[in-house]
Amino acid sequence: MGSAGSRRSTTVAATDAQEQQQPQVEELDEDGSPRIVFITGCSTGIGLATAVVLASDADKRFKVYATMRNLGKKAALEEAAGKTLGESLFIKELDVCSEEAVNSLVKEIESEEGRIDVLAALPGMKARKKGRIINVSSIIGVNGHPFSEIYSASKFALEGLTESLAPTLRKFNIRCSLVEPGPVTTSFNNNAKSLREGIDSSTADDKTQALLQEALKEMYRTVTEHSQTAEEVAEIIKNVILSRAPHLRYQTNSQYAPGEVQAKFSDATGDKAIDLMEKRFYPETK
Ligand SMILES: NC(=O)c1ccc[n+]([C@@H]2O[C@H](COP(=O)([O-])OP(=O)(O)OC[C@H]3O[C@@H](n4cnc5c(N)ncnc54)[C@H](OP(=O)(O)O)[C@@H]3O)[C@@H](O)[C@H]2O)c1
Repeated sequence: MGSAGSRRSTTVAATDAQEQQQPQVEELDEDGSPRIVFITGCSTGIGLATAVVLASDADKRFKVYATMRNLGKKAALEEAAGKTLGESLFIKELDVCSEEAVNSLVKEIESEEGRIDVLAALPGMKARKKGRIINVSSIIGVNGHPFSEIYSASKFALEGLTESLAPTLRKFNIRCSLVEPGPVTTSFNNNAKSLREGIDSSTADDKTQALLQEALKEMYRTVTEHSQTAEEVAEIIKNVILSRAPHLRYQTNSQYAPGEVQAKFSDATGDKAIDLMEKRFYPETK
């Protein structure tokens, strides 16, 4: 399992900016009590891995409330949690689309623990003048990718939400971070593939259909060549939580599209990033 620390020493293609971006881990909370962490989407993938990595921390620095919208899927998390289940990892039901369910669960955990330190529950964090919010975005939330428009729009919204909150919440000593993975080996890519296959593109013009096929080739190539494990992403999230002054953004895979990320933030016209994207996704089409 890779960590942000090991990645720092093994990555050769990372830029200086990306090296500086790695989370600097700090020591335990002042009073030594575990951080109360609230995680959504823990039935599988990055959510599950993050819950397990934090709950099995050797120094017992975290108590994890791992939530999922369908408790019928909890077996995989229970199995991965092993002996941490009921010790440092607690499973709760939560569909993030239900405001009522979110409010009620946050209230339940806050009354049980007195607080939530990481991920949610803004009023409580503001009152305590302490907290961390970590939203899992994507590289596609930094650079829009062809034929990922709706996904990209949703991640740009998450990026905008987090970036907008960040300066105000700093005044309450609450830090907001965006974790931006490239491809990760979870059920996500198969789900995306099935969704894509369900879309009828036959009514599109010939050129658009050809461009879609060309773009898909690049998407599948990157998934094959650049995928990280969910545990690697989880380790980075852990280090973001433990960081004294976490950054706003963390790209978890410094090997994946570093030029496009740099172009995004160094050329305010946006042209450089689009040039790179066009070359990468459409090398064959004039
Ligand atoms: N995998 C990648 O290549 C990749 C790359 C960049 C970013 N990301 C981001 O990483 C995050 C996690 O994705 P993943 O790769 O771990 O995918 P995943 O394995 O498919 O897991 C997605 C999780 O989200 C849960 N979920 C969906 N809708 C929900 C709702 N309304 N309320 C509560 N939970 C809900 C799913 O629950 P159910 O089991 O009930 O469906 C599942 O637990 C996503 O935000 C994704 O955009 C993934």
